[in-house]
Amino acid sequence: MPTVRFLLPDGAERALEVPVGVSLMEAARQDGIEGIVAECGGGAICGTCHVHIQKECFDLLEPAGMAEAALLQIVPDASETSRLSCQVIMTDELADMCVRVPAEQLTV
Ligand code: FES
Repeated sequence: MPTVRFLLPDGAERALEVPVGVSLMEAARQDGIEGIVAECGGGAICGTCHVHIQKECFDLLEPAGMAEAALLQIVPDASETSRLSCQVIMTDELADMCVRVPAEQLTV
């Protein structure tokens, strides 16, 4: 099963096995990764699941949809590799991906 490393705001690192077809948000929530709030449960309407994706893996992702792109304009600490983790679905190509959880999420 593919593994994803989550770099947490306090400097800690957690490695999770994420099944293909499951979103990063779902995996993070199931394993209690702090900082992935996911207020809307994956609907791409809250922006509280923001993460920074390792550049090499970011380039493998489908472009963000309109709703996601709009939210990424207003999330705190946005970067050129920002994505909503609920919209990033695990694939074999993304194995060993590294994502950074921002220190702050949108307040809803
Ligand atoms: S969980 Fe709400 S936008 Fe991702």
